[in-house]
Amino acid sequence: MRILVTGGAGYVGSHAIRSLARHGHRVTVYDNLSTGHRFLADGFEMMVADLDDAPQLSRALSDIELVMHFAGSAYVGESVQNPRKYFHNNVQNGLALANAALDAGVRYFVFSSSCAVYGTPEKVPIIEGTRCQPVNPYGETKLFFERILDAYSRTYDLRAVALRYFNAAGADESGEIGELHYPETHLIPLALEAAAGLRPPLEVFGNDYPTFDGTCIRDYIHVTDLAEAHALAAEFLQSQTGDAFTALNLGTGGGHSVRQVVAMVEKVSGHSVPRRITERRPGDPPSLVADPARARQLLRWSANRSLEEIVASAWKWLHSGKRQRVSAGAASVGEAPN
Ligand code: UFG
Repeated sequence: MRILVTGGAGYVGSHAIRSLARHGHRVTVYDNLSTGHRFLADGFEMMVADLDDAPQLSRALSDIELVMHFAGSAYVGESVQNPRKYFHNNVQNGLALANAALDAGVRYFVFSSSCAVYGTPEKVPIIEGTRCQPVNPYGETKLFFERILDAYSRTYDLRAVALRYFNAAGADESGEIGELHYPETHLIPLALEAAAGLRPPLEVFGNDYPTFDGTCIRDYIHVTDLAEAHALAAEFLQSQTGDAFTALNLGTGGGHSVRQVVAMVEKVSGHSVPRRITERRPGDPPSLVADPARARQLLRWSANRSLEEIVASAWKWLHSGKRQRVSAGAASVGEAPN
């Protein structure tokens, strides 16, 4: 299929485009490089433009059969400070994209959603039928856009899948691409950088949660497993089975506590992780673990890579020449590189 991938120069998007290419699809990346990096989409056709640039968007959509939408803002904390930015980037721009896609006759849509749509669920593992009650603007915007796709797919000739990611982590085995956020806020890269002596001690946000060791539990999923699910979602949409709109959890079905992740970082790196216990981070639910049964059934997919493989691949990426050159360039000009 001819696929337009918004945000294809971002972390998950750059892994997904490789998976789509392996499955024989023709990919065009559409990215404004505000948080993405050009080198992450090296070798792919790319348009550098904003989603609210209507003429460019409609040019990009000509002959496209499927839109895969990763572009958006993804910091929970920032969404609380600056909800306007999140509703603009994730809802308003998403709506512009969905409308332009309809106008261009696009039949299929895959959306990068999040477990943040659930908020703090009463029961884990979480099934897709759980009531969605987001606890921050980021989650609200993801849910908002899911609802747009749901309504559009009931009325128009559009089939859509929303993929609700749990905690994406790790890097492609090539060592050529991986996670590169400015600022970095995620546990695994922060713990690895602390182990490598590249940043101050890791802050463990709370050890008094109602979990087996007092720290929060999350479902960490290897970004390569996540990427593969996108290629399978494209095939699922084409197969015309199931509903016009489908939401699917993408997780492993297993959880790890912050302490367990830190122990794995120490095992893989061979270094201790300097750390201190601090206050809870507002808005962190104690435990978020996916029930991935529906994705397993409909996509014939499962996340097979272990926490050890996730951490080992992220450690390799931290030391890759590619990442180091890009980070050094960023430091010398004092900004995030593209
Ligand atoms: N954590 C720390 N110290 C840190 C960073 C994180 O203790 O410096 C803890 C957090 O409290 C949390 C766990 O590590 O318990 C994982 O935190 P991340 O920031 O890596 O990831 P989140 O679970 O907060 O975020 C993920 C996705 C978001 C999504 C959110 C839904 O990255 O996109 O889940 O809650 F919105």
